Amino acid sequence: MCGIVGYIGSKNTKKILINGLKELEYRGYDSAGIAVLSNGNFSSFKSVGKLVNLEKRTKDFETRGFAVGIGHTRWATHGKPTELNAHPHTGVNAYVVHNGIIENYAELKKELLKEGALFLSQTDTEVIVHQFEKNLKDLKNAFKAFEKTISELKGAYAILLVTKEEENTIFFAKNGSPMLIGINKENDKYFASSDTPLIGECREVNYFEDGDYGYVTQNELVIYDKNNTQKEPHFIQLATNKLSAQKEGFRFFMEKEIYEQSSVIADTLLGRLNENEVFFDELEENFFEGINEIKLCACGTSYHSALTASYLFERYAKIKTSVEIASEFRYRSPLMSKDTLFVVISQSGETADTLETLKMAKQSGLKTLVICNVDNSSMVRIADRAILTRAGIEKGVASTKAFATQVTVFWMLALHVAQSKKTLTEDELTQHIHYLRAIPTSVHVEDAMHERIKRLSKRYLHGHGFFFIGRDVFFPLALEGALKLKEISYLHAEGYPSGEMKHGPIALADPELFTIALLPQHMLYEKSKSNVEELSARDSTICAISPLEFDKADDFIQTKEHPHYMLEFFEMMVVVQLLSLEISIRLGNDVDMPRNLAKSVTVE
Ligand code: M6R
Repeated sequence: MCGIVGYIGSKNTKKILINGLKELEYRGYDSAGIAVLSNGNFSSFKSVGKLVNLEKRTKDFETRGFAVGIGHTRWATHGKPTELNAHPHTGVNAYVVHNGIIENYAELKKELLKEGALFLSQTDTEVIVHQFEKNLKDLKNAFKAFEKTISELKGAYAILLVTKEEENTIFFAKNGSPMLIGINKENDKYFASSDTPLIGECREVNYFEDGDYGYVTQNELVIYDKNNTQKEPHFIQLATNKLSAQKEGFRFFMEKEIYEQSSVIADTLLGRLNENEVFFDELEENFFEGINEIKLCACGTSYHSALTASYLFERYAKIKTSVEIASEFRYRSPLMSKDTLFVVISQSGETADTLETLKMAKQSGLKTLVICNVDNSSMVRIADRAILTRAGIEKGVASTKAFATQVTVFWMLALHVAQSKKTLTEDELTQHIHYLRAIPTSVHVEDAMHERIKRLSKRYLHGHGFFFIGRDVFFPLALEGALKLKEISYLHAEGYPSGEMKHGPIALADPELFTIALLPQHMLYEKSKSNVEELSARDSTICAISPLEFDKADDFIQTKEHPHYMLEFFEMMVVVQLLSLEISIRLGNDVDMPRNLAKSVTVE
């Protein structure tokens, strides 16, 4: 996830910018850059990879006296992580850094190109600086040009812009992406996209609201709101603990990441949908030609997303799909045929077992694809093609938002294949795309829901085991719910297909057996209900998760009514994540770093 810093003052600008960026490293990035305007001259440096590369680049650069500077860490969305795509972006006399997505960048770019603007990057951000320079030519006033530019942008942004035209000024705008400003006693001003770079530098900060824009100079801070009315800043005390600031008020990173799912899924969808089409820039048009089968291979949570995908591929794209646990696949002398697309799924892109299966598939001459969250990871480098999930860095060992974005990509991919194989009608595709766009809302965490789960969790701290049960895609979700719970609570939990309980596990049913039943309205509701009734009749303690009232349950978590079962899937995913989180917090566990587990498993 991208990060922004800015500084205006007389201290060591380079040091302040780079130190600020270091404080944002935890959010993940793949390139970084700074631009400093001092004595009328710009100095700009960019590098791919870690900040130490940027430090090396700027080794001989120093500022003396007053300067203005902006800096950025970039997590690639539009365009690869290259130096050219790294921020700050420039036109002729200005530099810009930006977090978020400019949705109408393609239209703006088309016009700017016609007018002769020279684009160097593949990013959406670069249009901002060219648009600004175009407006500056017309309006001959930097602030007016900036104001007009902002009014022409659609999408989410936090923006800092500096220009030779007003060399003691930083222009800023915020809409949908976070940004704040702090001022110290020397009247130096600091910008950042989250608290941590400012901790230790300033005591008081002003958090910008959506629609805010304006400028700062050494002596002024001028803010306008979304109605173009000037407003006073509202300074509040800044937290002093960096780790807690990184958690942005949440108790654990895992909790923060559950809450982030809505916005990261919006990023996953971005630029990949139009009215009746799903497209991936990463795949050439004929990528699926000659492919008669898909084999998905992964570990842990990524394996669960693959299992979910297998239902979607067969149902919508009518393509034979099988799913493999990577550690098993490696050693069982699998048969591989050339008309199979081999897909590995991995949050980290480094999991040893999965990586090895990818190498095996390549050696066997199969076409390969990776669904991954980390660009430039080993799997991304090895696979023929990569689709990035855009979840941002995931710190909690128990994966949440990575899973959510993987399933989102798979739903889109199933539709993409269905579209090329014409296994869905245009109307059906349009309908699905409409549902896809509703995922961010379906995973939004409502306070009332979280409170309810928090309260219920106290009843599930003991017992001799949990069964998470579901049918169809709700079976992999049940597996995922059980994995989440056991990873962080250390309680025994299993995921099971609801219809399979009667073939054995029902023997365990008693009041100390906790059944977490997934009962979606739009997927085999009656059948799943009977399965749960069988358990209820044998006195198992039931916690039902459903939009429909269910009187045979001891506890009931009511989800919203959704028009499609996949949207029910996403809301229930949040419920099982929160339930595991709250049980584990009550048990006093370190949710982010559970015992015996590592975030990236690079050993066999
Ligand atoms: O990075 P990967 O997705 O390849 O990791 C695979 C598993 O190690 C991972 O999903 C693990 O199961 C998580 N701890 C789940 O929360």
